[in-house]
Amino acid sequence: MSSRTARRPWIRRLATALAGGGLLVSLAAPALAAPSAPPAPPAPTLAAPDIPLANVKAHLSQLQSLATANGGNRAHGRAGYRASIDYIKAKLDAAGYTTTLQPFTSNGATGWNLIADWPGGDPNQVLMAGAHLDSVTSGPGINDNGSGSAAILETALAVSREGLNPEQHLRFGWWGAEELGLVGSRNYVNSLSTTERAKFSGYLNFDMIGSPNPGYFVYDDDTQLEKVFKDWYASKGISTEIETEGDGRSDHSNFKNAGIPVGGLFTGASRTKTTAQAQKWGGTAGQAFDRCYHSSCDTTSNINDTALDRNSDAIAHAVWTLGAGTGTPPPDGTTFENTADVAVPDRGAAVESPVTVTGRTGNAPANLQVGVDIKHTWRGDLVVDLVAPDGTAYRLKSYSSSDSADNVIATYTVDASSETANGTWKLRVQDQVANDTGYIDSWKLVF
Ligand code: TRP
Ligand code: ZN
Ligand code: CA
Repeated sequence: MSSRTARRPWIRRLATALAGGGLLVSLAAPALAAPSAPPAPPAPTLAAPDIPLANVKAHLSQLQSLATANGGNRAHGRAGYRASIDYIKAKLDAAGYTTTLQPFTSNGATGWNLIADWPGGDPNQVLMAGAHLDSVTSGPGINDNGSGSAAILETALAVSREGLNPEQHLRFGWWGAEELGLVGSRNYVNSLSTTERAKFSGYLNFDMIGSPNPGYFVYDDDTQLEKVFKDWYASKGISTEIETEGDGRSDHSNFKNAGIPVGGLFTGASRTKTTAQAQKWGGTAGQAFDRCYHSSCDTTSNINDTALDRNSDAIAHAVWTLGAGTGTPPPDGTTFENTADVAVPDRGAAVESPVTVTGRTGNAPANLQVGVDIKHTWRGDLVVDLVAPDGTAYRLKSYSSSDSADNVIATYTVDASSETANGTWKLRVQDQVANDTGYIDSWKLVF
């Protein structure tokens, strides 16, 4: 309880006059310079892992062997295709995916799409990555498109290894009969109801991502999906270009036509690398990005390891980043605290105590917990705000003329989901009425 039992405005005015403005300033200044919080506990691991190139290449070796054992290709309607589907499905089943084979008929032969769902995530926000698994009949199709198939397989396996618990629902797809005119993916998209199509946050396509004379091309469709890839490449200091070698030439076009946002990566097919492109990316100018495109020489020798490695990591980055959604990870109890005392001057300027948040991904949660411990002899005087890194203030406690109790020791829940989590947050406290004083003892943010 407060030492006072009644409020007399004239006593308050007198007290203020005696205290004087200068004292208020001198109290406030050191408080603002309070040291920041001790180092935060380890951040939750939400960054994508490195995708081991050796694992991706091991899948390519398997696909090559399956082609070799089955007449030299993995084409629609041939044994090498079915063997490829079985190989990928077995890996996914062992990793905890829910897999579905979707049969369809094309050119008088049965083909299959393989769909793999990672359990969990918001069923109304589906993020899908896909690649066609069939080759042409003339070769084993290792760059086209063992490369995309192996990279998304290894990304899916990394999701399992890491026990990823994304906000969005993750789905992976391997398409049949792409080489016959995007047939498998058309069957899949046609099988989705309007309601189901509306649940897709995006479809990411990977068709030819390890070309031997590679370019780094990003699909120029949905700007958000494009940005995730461009930013990843920019962060590595590698320039990219917009994919222009044939809009509508791979499975993403079926998704795009159904109104689903699409993105993807591509390292080039039969088009020729220019001098300018060779200067920035290396490789051979005047030569096709893939001289073995749709040929018998599209074997495991027809892969540029650096391109395959980069694109595999970029895919994982996109799945991790986009799958996290706008960033409202489940509550994990990570705490950021400032225990330094900050004096709250009597009827004075607002004072602030900072807490620096690092190592988070995306936005703050909708139920950010703000623990406040303010010692004060008449808490009704106090107005308390949480200030986000961008300066947005959230009122935690208003002034009250009637609340004469001591101290503000409380936990407030703030919907901070529109705020970037990382940055310097502040607890702002102002004493609006003269006579009683106190200090911020400590405060914390619990994610
Ligand atoms: N999908 C084509 C094929 O398999 C290859 C291709 C050509 C491509 N241009 C493209 C793939 C542009 C993606 C984007 O034959
Ligand atoms: Zn292809
Ligand atoms: Ca006061």
